[in-house]
Amino acid sequence: MKSLLIVSTKGSSGRTTLTCLLARHLQCTCYWRVLVLDLAEPPRCAHLLARYRYEAIVSGNRAPASQESARSASGGCVHVLSANAIDGLMSRDDPARTRYYANLRHLLSAVAPWFDVCLVDAPALPDLRAVCAEALVDAVLSPVAVSPECVTCASAVINGTYGIRNIRARLNPVLRFTGILPVVAVPAAMEQAWTKVMETTLREWLIADPASPRGYVWLPHLTSVCRMEPFTPADSEPAARDADMPEALRAGATCLDVITHRLEAIQDGTVPSLRHAEVCDA
Ligand SMILES: Nc1ncnc2c1ncn2[C@@H]1O[C@H](COP(=O)(O)OP(=O)(O)OP(=O)(O)O)[C@@H](O)[C@H]1O
Ligand SMILES: [Mg+2]
Repeated sequence: MKSLLIVSTKGSSGRTTLTCLLARHLQCTCYWRVLVLDLAEPPRCAHLLARYRYEAIVSGNRAPASQESARSASGGCVHVLSANAIDGLMSRDDPARTRYYANLRHLLSAVAPWFDVCLVDAPALPDLRAVCAEALVDAVLSPVAVSPECVTCASAVINGTYGIRNIRARLNPVLRFTGILPVVAVPAAMEQAWTKVMETTLREWLIADPASPRGYVWLPHLTSVCRMEPFTPADSEPAARDADMPEALRAGATCLDVITHRLEAIQDGTVPSLRHAEVCDA
C-alpha cells in the first residue's frame, strides 16, 4: 500500500477537498482500492465524498470484509476511516498523544493488505497528528491557496520545523515530496503579480507538467468552473479534453492525472519506518 499525506501549515488550504477529489479520481481511473484516513477533528472527508454523490463507505473500527468484496463492480473502492472512531487515535484515549505515532504506524501496517493507496487528511502543521503522519507516509503533497501569503505558507511546509526537510532528516529518510499544489479560487488570481512571484520562488517545488501551459499543475476551485461535481470520471480521458474545455476544468483533470502518475511511481512497500525501524522507533 502506498501512502500520501495531504498537508499544509494553514487551515482552509484545500486539504480535505483535494483528498476527496483524489480518492474519487484514483478509484474511477485506476480502479484502486483507496483508504481515506481522516485524522482531522471534526472529520469531514466522509461527508464531503457523500456530498459529491459518491458512495463512500465509512467503517469505524470494522475490518474490510475481504480483498475481493472490498472492491466495487468497477474494480476500485473508497473507504473512509475517521480517527474519532479508531481506538488509540481518539484524543480521549490518549489526551497527550503519547501513543499516537505507534498506534498510527500499527494502523497503517494493519490495513496495508487491503488497500492500494492510503490518502491521509490531517490537521494543519504543527499539529502532532500531522507530524506523526509525515513521519510514516511514503509521500507528502501540499495544497496552498494562491494568495499573497502563499510563498510563506509553502516555505513553512518545506523548511519549517515540521517541514519536509526536517522530517526527512530526522524521522523519515525515504519521505518523498510530491510538491506544492496551488489551489486557485478565482482564475484572475493567476494574473496577479504575486502569482508570478510564487511561480519564480517556488518553481522547483511546483509539480512540473511540461504539457500544461503554465508548466506546472494547479487545482481550480470547483465553484470557479461552475461545477460541484469533481473532474472525474467524465473528464478522465485526456483525449476527451478538447480545446473548447475551459482552462480551469482542464487544469483540474490534468492535476489529478499528474498526481496519480506520481503515486504510481512510488514503489509499493510497507510503511517506510517499518522498513527503517532503527531510524525512528518511538
Ligand atoms: N478545489 C476546490 N474546489 C472547491 N472548493 C474548494 C476547493 N478547495 C477548497 N475549497 C473550499 O475552500 C474551503 C476550504 O477547503 P478545505 O476544507 O478542503 O480545506 P482544509 O485545508 O481541509 O481546511 P481545514 O483547515 O478546515 O481542514 C472549503 O469551503 C472548500 O469548499
Ligand atoms: Mg480539512
